[in-house]
Amino acid sequence: MKTFSPIKEGKVREVYDNGDSLIIVATDRISAFDVILKNKVTKKGAILTQMSKFWFDFTKDIVPNHMISTDVKDMPEFFNQEQYDGNSMMCKKLEMLPVECIVRGYITGSGWESYKKNGTVCGIKLPEGLVESDKLPEPIYTPTTKAEIGDHDEHITFEGTVETLEKLYPGKGEEYATKIKECTLALYKKCAEYALSKGIIIADTKFEFGLDENGNVVLGDEMLTPDSSRFWPLEGYKPGQGQPSFDKQFVRDWLKANPDSDYLLPEEVVTKTVEKYEEAYEMLTGTKF
Ligand SMILES: Nc1ncnc2c1ncn2[C@@H]1O[C@H](COP(=O)(O)OP(=O)(O)O)[C@@H](O)[C@H]1O
Ligand SMILES: [Mg+2]
Repeated sequence: MKTFSPIKEGKVREVYDNGDSLIIVATDRISAFDVILKNKVTKKGAILTQMSKFWFDFTKDIVPNHMISTDVKDMPEFFNQEQYDGNSMMCKKLEMLPVECIVRGYITGSGWESYKKNGTVCGIKLPEGLVESDKLPEPIYTPTTKAEIGDHDEHITFEGTVETLEKLYPGKGEEYATKIKECTLALYKKCAEYALSKGIIIADTKFEFGLDENGNVVLGDEMLTPDSSRFWPLEGYKPGQGQPSFDKQFVRDWLKANPDSDYLLPEEVVTKTVEKYEEAYEMLTGTKF
């Protein structure tokens, strides 16, 4: 049997090379405040993979995506092991575009900090009088460059994305930049509206696109999981303050209350967190995990 080792190991996910395809495995690792916690959150990886699958299916009419299968039977034999079952996605290998396509429907985080200073978010002027966590009149597209390891991603303007892509793909910069912007906004609008009807606010999120062998723009990476997005419960939503995170609130609260914990959570916090991931999945998909 051919064995595989990851070509890339991120904080939470592992990527395996399988020729024309990649196998992206979401582990049960969890991060909070930019640190990987010592606990594993059982089922988190599988829930997030199945959530991405749900959204890829839900939006395939807007833009093609890289998903091939989440069934390990379709993958090389090596992946027919319990540790990969349900949390792995086989994807078409793409040439990724070096732009992180961020879209914000609500004002929070770094966007809120910037607005308080000068009324703009990433150079986009917003109406006066917004309060923290307010819904924006229209979702805004605030791309960043995809930074080299260790660097921070930097905001770029739309024109900046045209330039970046034009350098890599002469004659195509404007076309690709426009396409990924339009897809980002269309994907966000459709999915955020749907999620809202199910009781979840998707405050913001990030998409990544790549090119397939024919130069078509294809949606890659993970899609609209709480790891790539800010999910807030609609119940209790109250502008004028920060909102609780749908999935990580128990973790954050506990870590703040226990600064000497060395990032090891008690079992009951882990259990409650697993339940939040299951709840998000069930609310969004209408099926029990
Ligand atoms: N279909 C794909 N083809 C090639 N690369 C992909 C594809 N989908 C996602 N990727 C890349 O796989 C990597 C996933 O790694 P990740 O754990 O998110 O770490 P990071 O975001 O720090 O690079 C990212 O670099 C992402 O751009
Ligand atoms: Mg990533």
